[in-house]
Parts: sequence; structure tokens; C-alpha cells
Amino acid sequence: MSENKILILDFGGQYNQLIARRVRECGVYSEVHGYEQMELSDIKAFDPKGIIFTGGPQSAYGEGAPSIDDGVFELGVPILGICYGAQLMAYRLGGRIDSAPTSEYGRTEVTIDDKNGILAEADDVNVCWMSHTDYISEPPEGFVITAHTTDCPVAAMEDRSRGFYAVQFHPEVNHTRHGSEFLKRFVLEVCGCEQDWKMDSFARTQIDRIREKVGTDRVLLALSGGVDSSVCAALLSKAIGNQLTCVFVDHGLLRKNEAAQVASIFGEDGQFDLNFVLVDAAQRYYEKLTGASEPEAKRKIIGEEFIRVFEKTAKQIGRHEYLAQGTIYPDVIESGLGKSAVIKSHHNVGGLPDHVDFREILEPLRMLFKDEVRQLGRELGLPEELVSRQPFPGPGLAVRIIGEVTEEKVHVVQEADAIYREEIAKAGLAGSISQYFAALTNMQTVGVMGDFRTYDYAIVLRAVQTSDFMTAEASEIPWDVLQRVMTRIVNEVDHVNRVLYDLTSKPPGTVEME
Ligand code: XMP
Repeated sequence: MSENKILILDFGGQYNQLIARRVRECGVYSEVHGYEQMELSDIKAFDPKGIIFTGGPQSAYGEGAPSIDDGVFELGVPILGICYGAQLMAYRLGGRIDSAPTSEYGRTEVTIDDKNGILAEADDVNVCWMSHTDYISEPPEGFVITAHTTDCPVAAMEDRSRGFYAVQFHPEVNHTRHGSEFLKRFVLEVCGCEQDWKMDSFARTQIDRIREKVGTDRVLLALSGGVDSSVCAALLSKAIGNQLTCVFVDHGLLRKNEAAQVASIFGEDGQFDLNFVLVDAAQRYYEKLTGASEPEAKRKIIGEEFIRVFEKTAKQIGRHEYLAQGTIYPDVIESGLGKSAVIKSHHNVGGLPDHVDFREILEPLRMLFKDEVRQLGRELGLPEELVSRQPFPGPGLAVRIIGEVTEEKVHVVQEADAIYREEIAKAGLAGSISQYFAALTNMQTVGVMGDFRTYDYAIVLRAVQTSDFMTAEASEIPWDVLQRVMTRIVNEVDHVNRVLYDLTSKPPGTVEME
């Protein structure tokens, strides 16, 4: 990795990933580590050009509060404290922290007192995102107060001679005006980082590393056709060519034409040098799914079946020393950086068979955010259609068919979904909706078509706006587009006589139906 890197010490803040992404958007590499996993010696070994302390839910003066070896302030490395991180810095350096008489949450007007440091681009009264119940009541010696609010005497402070900066607000969230510029000033001007974090150089170093590590051995990759595993395949192919075997299991629950698309990119006639093994397991999955209507039961069948099919195929094609996975950085962060940050255990981490004997797991994308993975995919020559693809769940259309899955229902939902996607693309909306799809309700209703009574399925259309898929809102798709989609679906897809639009946000709904 480059010498220009920023260490983000996580004290349990909800925006730790966002801070890392913002730093990388400045062209500078950053990593997030839980504070309790980084001893002073680890920090020295990491050799950062700058350190950022994140927010966190505790009080800096509380018993057992997350803290840090004071030696970090002696390293001569600039530090930026955000929210809890700001308070921790103030507290450890001899300032005073108190419970604020008035907490500040959300958009807050911050008066800027001094623009000679990282707040140079700020408005005189800058709208910032706050979320705190404690505040710095007195800064430590050597600091100047650079911003305040009506309820918070120290909204920002700086000790420029020592390279210590602190902001009570969250510069990493979009609601803070000029927040990215404050971070950029810290990273580029204060820490003096060069902007050398770019996907073309990442690809080159990763390719060399993979070659060196793998030598003449063989690598097996379970290719789903999603962005992460596809980019992983492209990268490995550039590095080791046909020492890579990609197994693509068509479970019959993919979108219309999807299996053919994946085969055209990665198969024999595609542009990549690798061994492509397509396993058509559709009938096997339909049989296993017969009679299963409960969502978790369906997911379990699909997960177990995947492992069985994959194991069987792996045995047939012979020994591969390495298993590659398209794990990405949010999966790594969310799977736990220590106690404070466990949000959920991700299905991609550790979700593959343990019965097949591999020497090691390769995860060449494990330090990349999703937008970086997409960028890398472009560098490697993957088609834009694949690189900018919306998320698609591992269990596929099975979670978009409420209740029991049958081949016929899969076909119905595939056709309806293809029409929906086509019309969204035609209307120029594809890039502005986070995720959208058609699903099959298990409901049949009475309708009338050409003077005949019908009793057919209702399709539900879903479209959401979200930045992290943890919360989401229904997209406002123009009425005329929805009308066109409805007309085409009822006319062109057999067994559908009704189309509904799902208005539910998440929570209380989820993005998928099951
Ligand atoms: P939910 O339905 O949980 O979906 O609100 C949030 C996001 O995750 C995707 N999703 C999955 N992705 N395996 C996956 O790889 C799964 O089992 C799975 N379930 C949901 C969903 O499409 C959405 O983007």
C-alpha cells in the first residue's frame, strides 16, 4: 500500500465507513480499525500520515469509556477528532468535557470564528450535522476555538502547531455544508498526503501480488454474476489467466437472460482468459423448493443447495489450492471491527463451504468500497451494464415470489421484471433509482379481459431510494411511466391481471419481499 494513508480509529461511531469513503474520495487511502484493536505499536507500524478519531456513543469522562494511549499525541502525526473523537482529544489533552445543557441533533447553524485552518471554505454561518449530548466546555491549552453555536461553545478547535484538529459536528455527512472540503484540507494540507489512491494503480499492484502469491497454483471462484464476484473474476483473470476457474451456478432464480449474459462475458467467447464452468441447476432447485413457502425455509434450501452444487462441481474439476471470494470492505467492517461496530454478520463473509479443502482464501477486493469496485471493473474492461448493475439478492427471485416458488411463477416474474427494467431505462431513470424490481404476490384476483373473467396473479412493482440499504424510501416514479409498465405487463405477461406499486419505506418494510 501507498505511504499516503490515513488511519481511522473507530470509537463506535455510526459514520465510520463514511469517513473512510470521504478520505478515499480525496484520492488518499484510508483504513478503519477499532480503537481496541490498535495498540500504540500497531499504530506506529501502520505508519499513517494522519489519524482520524470517529464519533461514538459514550462520554469521554465515563468509566470504561473508549480511550487511547496518550502516546498517540506524541507521534508527530496530525490528528482530527470528530464528535466523540473531538471530546476524547480535548479530554486527554487537559480540556474540559461536560454534559451539554442543550443537546444538538441534526442540522445546526455553526458560526465560524477562524478560517485559517481546515475550515477555510466554510460559510460564515455554516450548516453542520450535529449529534451530541456532551460538549467541550474548555479547550486544552494551545488550542484556538474556530467555531461555536448558540448551545456549544467549542464546535471546532485547532492547535495548528501540533497538528491537532477537532470538530464537534460530522464533516463526513452530506448535510454538513463543505464537510468534504474540511476533510480534504486536513488530509491534503495538514497531513500532506499525495493523491495516489487510484484504481488503475490498485489494479496493477493487486495483479502483481496475486501472481506472486498464487505462483503456478489454481484458484476457484464462485461467480454469481453480481458486481463484486465479476470484478474479482476479471482481476484474477488478468493476474493468472486460466489458472482461474469460475463456477457459475444457474439456480433458475436469475433475472431474464442473466445467465446468458454472464456466460457471454466470462465464457469461451468472452474477453477474459479463464476456465468458465456453468452449472445448470435450475430443475434441481425447483424440485428442492417444491412445497416450501416460508421465507427462511426457502433461503435455507437455496443456501444449502448452493453449497452442495458447488462442492460437487469443485470435486469434479479437481484440486484448486485457493478459493477466491468477492468480499468487499463494507462486509469486512460490518462483520465486526471489535465490539462497538458489529451491525450485522454479512452473508458473504465465511458463507462458503468448509468441506472443500483449500489452502487459503483470496479476497482481493476486501479493502474496496462498492464505488471503488465499480471503478476497478471499468479499469478492467467490464461492460458498464454489469459494472453499474443494481444489487440482486443471493437467493434471487425466490425472495421476490411470495410463498412457494414454481418454474411458472419464476417465468412470470422474469417477464414482468424485464418490462419494468426496460421502461425505467427508456425513461432515463435507471441511474437515479437505488434498486427496482418486479415481484410476484402470491395473490390472485378477479379481472376482466376482452369480456372474459380472469383470475390471475398480481405483480407488485418496487423501487427505492437509499444510500446504505439499511433504510430506504419508495421512489417517486412518474405516473406515466408506471402506467406504461402496467399496461405492458398485463398485456404481455400471461397469468397477470393486476399491477400494484409498493409505497412502503424501510423500516417498517424491507427492500425485498421476503
Ligand atoms: P432487505 O430486503 O434486507 O435488502 O431490505 C437490503 C439489500 O440487501 C439485498 N439482499 C440480499 N443480498 N443476499 C444478498 O446478497 C441476500 O440474502 C439478500 N437479501 C437482501 C437486497 O436486494 C437489498 O439490496
